[in-house]
Amino acid sequence: MNIKIRTLAKGITLIYGCVLTSVVMANTSALPPAGQICVTCHGVEGEGIEPLGPRLAGLSKEYITTQLQHFQAGVRQNATMMPMAMTLQGDGIDQVASYFSAKSPKTEVKPVIRGEQVTFSDDTARLAYQGDWSRGLPACVTCHGPSGLGGGLFPRLAGQQASYIKTQLLAWQAGTRKGDVDGMMANVANKLTAAEVDALANYFANLK
Ligand code: HEC
Ligand code: HEC
Repeated sequence: MNIKIRTLAKGITLIYGCVLTSVVMANTSALPPAGQICVTCHGVEGEGIEPLGPRLAGLSKEYITTQLQHFQAGVRQNATMMPMAMTLQGDGIDQVASYFSAKSPKTEVKPVIRGEQVTFSDDTARLAYQGDWSRGLPACVTCHGPSGLGGGLFPRLAGQQASYIKTQLLAWQAGTRKGDVDGMMANVANKLTAAEVDALANYFANLK
């Protein structure tokens, strides 16, 4: 009798647990009200819709949060995104940053660890992996991680749209994107030639 009751109780706990888990999962994966407008340009899975909006899947919650704050503060200027960021009031930023950071980019990349490859025949890959110390240009992967997979406040570049990567590097050169700690990206972008901007944008976009 006792055993039966115990088994029954275990069963109920299990069912209860499953229901609870599915409710919690449904909550985190459901598009929050504040995010309804975003998917028009960024896609329901944050996959990005070229040329409307870049991919958000694969970016961390803290990175997405800081960028939305930068648009709101106007240190990152973009005619489309500034008013969009302004729609996020109260815990709106937290809602959308939680939602999109939980999405994973569909493209799998096998990371090439820094130092694994020592010589590069391709100038662009060399710049990405070793930088150019004669110009004080650090390697992109020092901050953006092996194969540009990103992490924390360093955004993922691998598989991002080439056109978007390019406009961002140009935005730093033009001074319309700011707000990153110590101006590290402006320091990098200002040392790149127009041809290198194009080549690096294509290089990272094709790592997928
Ligand atoms: C009408 C199209 C459009 C809509 C709607 C839109 N965005 Fe954007 N979003 C863009 C564009 C274009 C950019 C690139 C801006 C730039 O070049 O700086 C962008 C950039 C971003 C970035 C920066 C990505 C990065 O890698 O740094 C974030 C984060 C973002 N959007 C979040 C949102 C959220 C959250 C919403 C909904 C509240 C939203 N967007 C609605 C078009 C849109
Ligand atoms: C010293 C560290 C550092 C190095 C080196 C670096 N980056 Fe960055 N990069 C950052 C940080 C930090 C950000 C986020 C800036 C912000 O918060 O606005 C960023 C952002 C970017 C973005 C914007 C991505 C997005 O989703 O909006 C691009 C594109 C980029 N970097 C390309 C490069 C390239 C190409 C190189 C190599 C030539 C490079 N970076 C080297 C630190 C670095």
